[in-house]
Amino acid sequence: MILEAVNVSCRYGGFTAVDNVSLALESAEILGIAGTNGAGKSTLFAAIAGQQSASAGRIVFDGQDVTQLAPYQRAQRGLVRTFQVPREFKSLTVHENLMTAGRNPEGEQLFSALIGTPARRRRERELSDQADGILEFLNLVRVRDVFARNLSGGQKKLVELGRVLMRDPRCILLDEPFAGVNPVLIDEICSHVLALNARGIAFIVIEHHLQALKALASRLIVMDRGIVLAQGDPHKVLDDPQVQEAYMGGIA
Ligand SMILES: Nc1ncnc2c1ncn2[C@@H]1O[C@H](COP(=O)(O)OP(=O)(O)OP(=O)(O)O)[C@@H](O)[C@H]1O
Ligand SMILES: [Mg+2]
Repeated sequence: MILEAVNVSCRYGGFTAVDNVSLALESAEILGIAGTNGAGKSTLFAAIAGQQSASAGRIVFDGQDVTQLAPYQRAQRGLVRTFQVPREFKSLTVHENLMTAGRNPEGEQLFSALIGTPARRRRERELSDQADGILEFLNLVRVRDVFARNLSGGQKKLVELGRVLMRDPRCILLDEPFAGVNPVLIDEICSHVLALNARGIAFIVIEHHLQALKALASRLIVMDRGIVLAQGDPHKVLDDPQVQEAYMGGIA
């Protein structure tokens, strides 16, 4: 077991966005999370990765309770997430965007802190090489020196994935990796996720695109209004009458 969320709740003021949700993720697993808009999916990710503090419950990563840790401390342990709306630096190139996400020996994230001493120049070289390796893996070499603001929606999603790969993660939370992405690139992102999973990285993938989610995930959780409505085999879960009702017949 790489990750566990135990009875997690999250509130925004008096509103409970995540209500006593538990999940467990095996080290080599891809878990899907689906659910209607506002179900609490992204809030659950924020609680797991640390951007949002849980009002109840705990997060256990690799056997350690990380509930009180900051996001960067969870990332150092190998637990990272992407955001629903990609957070690239628009006026940096693709390669620079990856470099800013890498860590230096002090655990800082700022690229600017690396400029200067020979040791830091060496580290910069290492980060640069690591970024180039990831760009090659993600098929992004041709846009290496393009400013991020000029990328397509799908390319921005790939850069978002590239940025978290710079942390050498063991578990990646992907928040809607296929939203606004063309079908060809969806297939490509799927194959990258499967290849990374084959190397031992566990994933939780939030997606409205159920077809793609079924292709990736061996297990599916459906959330609705803060709670887990159903979970299990993706095909069975999507046939569940409660799930069908929550989607008001709107799913394939
Ligand atoms: N910062 C915030 N302050 C107050 N309420 C919030 C905040 N963020 C989210 N919410 C509310 O919490 C609930 C869950 O939101 P969340 O973004 O987690 O849903 P989601 O399942 O990711 O939805 P979507 O599929 O639309 O991304 C929603 O009702 C939302 O309006
Ligand atoms: Mg969301």
